[in-house]
Amino acid sequence: MRVRVRILTAGCLVLWTMGYVVMAGAQGTETGKAGAAATKIHGVATRPLTATSAPTVAATPPMGWNSWNFFAGKVTDKDIRDTADLLVSTGMRDAGYVYVNIDDTWEGKRDAEGRIQSNEKFPDMKALADYVHSKGLKLGIYSSPGAKTCAGYEGSLGHEEQDAQTYAEWGIDYLKYDLCSYGGVMKAQAPDDLPAQYKLMREAYEKMHQAIVKTGRPMVYSLCQYGWDSVWEWGPSVGGNLWRTTGDISANFDRMSTIGRGQAGLDRFAGPGHWNDPDMLEVGNGRLTHDENVTHMTLWAMLAAPLIAGNNLTQMTPDVASILMNKEVIAIDQDALGRQGDRLGAEGPLETWWKPLKGDRKGEWKAAIAIFNFGDTAGVSGVPLGLDRDGTMIARDVWSGKDLGKIDSNWRTTIPRHGVVLLVVR
Ligand code: GLA
Repeated sequence: MRVRVRILTAGCLVLWTMGYVVMAGAQGTETGKAGAAATKIHGVATRPLTATSAPTVAATPPMGWNSWNFFAGKVTDKDIRDTADLLVSTGMRDAGYVYVNIDDTWEGKRDAEGRIQSNEKFPDMKALADYVHSKGLKLGIYSSPGAKTCAGYEGSLGHEEQDAQTYAEWGIDYLKYDLCSYGGVMKAQAPDDLPAQYKLMREAYEKMHQAIVKTGRPMVYSLCQYGWDSVWEWGPSVGGNLWRTTGDISANFDRMSTIGRGQAGLDRFAGPGHWNDPDMLEVGNGRLTHDENVTHMTLWAMLAAPLIAGNNLTQMTPDVASILMNKEVIAIDQDALGRQGDRLGAEGPLETWWKPLKGDRKGEWKAAIAIFNFGDTAGVSGVPLGLDRDGTMIARDVWSGKDLGKIDSNWRTTIPRHGVVLLVVR
């Protein structure tokens, strides 16, 4: 392991390599755009985004729960109330999971004035919002710029202001706005003209942003259009607080890890108020093993990704609860510096990722280092970084909760198949 980082002056890190394969940014997302296209938008060079003022929402990556990954089209008012109760009783709310987000399939018909109604699964959205708020939680909802949502329910096309106003009256705090059938509108209005289609897409997202602003109610605005047109480059300009960078996640290791690893190179587009979103957590879903759940949670924390749990809280095991609520891992994700981590390098299936932390006070951790093993057999690795001139650093193993004291280039650890060792260092 031969990458080292030295602190030259406060907060200034220099990284150099000696034969270690540095590949941060080399792998794009599944669209193949993340690394290569990250510096250009329609031929114009872009700079990393910086917040001009303190964000009113999403100063750190949003945390909460969303109905889609487990309940999908079956979600009901009762599921949301049960989830709200359990977010409180399990300690998840106090660990930071405050948004309770209803995904697709809540939508009913519009009334004579065009006002959107919730369907029979959600008899009274305002009462539900009041209930969720009474638990010290916030409520999120879902719509599409198209006439239909991805599950074929009523979208917001032509009703953007009216819908935003309705959400505000209900007490909604978060909107996920999913492209879905608007892709068809784009194609119909600008056949065979991709740049013109993308322009329509950006305008549609901007339109709902303006509609939300007009309500005067703060809402987290979550763009969902699967990373098209390098959304990380323009998401903040249409009011996005987070934007999906990929297609849908599913509860298996290959899909989860492909999405997570594909975020390499996108770090400079994230920051307070505007985050890359590699999709919601599958921790506790499907047949993900303990080590796979730990890897998933670690990778998302290293990415400063929104932590939106997607499991069925009524059946949450103590193991899954302890993974989702590991305070030190959440602190890495939520670190006030707001820097997304990036891949430093790889040796076969072993990948080392690095995330700078605020750590500006004496004794605070300055960085998190995760060594992932995406391979099918256990691997042995050292740590490629030396924070001090003498090539040592003080480290703590986060998942085992063990202080390691001073470690140097001789330090080695065994990483299980599909597992990870996560360190914080100073
Ligand atoms: C799309 C989104 C998912 C989910 C479904 C709902 O596939 O990417 O996250 O919201 O729509 O229909």
